[in-house]
Amino acid sequence: MSVHATKRRLAPSDIKALKGQRPIVSLTAYTTPVAKLMDPHVDFILVGDSLGMVLYGLDSTVGVTLEMMIAHGQAVMRGSTNACVVVDLPFGSYQESKELAFRSAARVLKETGCSAVKLEGGAEMAETVDFLTRRGIPVLGHVGLMPQLINTTGGYRSLGRSDKEAEKIRSDAKAIDDAGAFAIVIEGTVEPVARDITGTVRAPTIGIGASPACDGQVLVVDDVLGVFTDFKPRFVKRFANLAPLMSEAFAAYAEEVKARSFPAEEHTFQVKKSS
Ligand code: KIV
Repeated sequence: MSVHATKRRLAPSDIKALKGQRPIVSLTAYTTPVAKLMDPHVDFILVGDSLGMVLYGLDSTVGVTLEMMIAHGQAVMRGSTNACVVVDLPFGSYQESKELAFRSAARVLKETGCSAVKLEGGAEMAETVDFLTRRGIPVLGHVGLMPQLINTTGGYRSLGRSDKEAEKIRSDAKAIDDAGAFAIVIEGTVEPVARDITGTVRAPTIGIGASPACDGQVLVVDDVLGVFTDFKPRFVKRFANLAPLMSEAFAAYAEEVKARSFPAEEHTFQVKKSS
């Protein structure tokens, strides 16, 4: 037996245990090199279906497929050893029945090696969350603003201002908590509602546009890095501004290729003269 204890990745149960201890840190990632850079700094990496917009230029997350999620889930797993990795179940891969949800989630876990899946939905998804968690699939819930419902809700505005909306988000979160989710993302929700939920559910709440009252925070990595500049929601803070740096680099490269100053001697293979 080896005397060296190998450090294991954080598990969904470790994320749950952080509630009340310290804020939980999460970001999305979709590729190996980005996952590698963020891995030492985050508790869990979310392979979000936001990749549809961020990487593929789609208008919404509705067009994202299970195959896309699996390919990017594998890439993120290859780039990480510390963080718990959670992969989003995309639209159409789980809503129809709890059995379909199990098949999709089992594929994601088997083919990527990740530890958990995320699915959007409140009370209507509680039976599915219960079905999955009892069968060995940890689930990260997602309530409040649910981008996969864009075609029925019609927009991305923040929610919870009216009593009716606030009550719906509260009861959705309670249903997913009772069903056994190890954590719950609350998206685009006003502070008092996020605070209420955080104080009442057992699972840690992970906010995105849902105030500092949540037990942790998640953001889309390209927003944090200032790469995705189509628009900036109010809740996003850019911790870097990479877009202008990237543009400058592309322009400099183009100039040097045109001027034949790149590749230079040091980038060029020569045949060594034999003696
Ligand atoms: O797809 C996504 O990126 C998400 C957010 C919670 C960040 O679901």
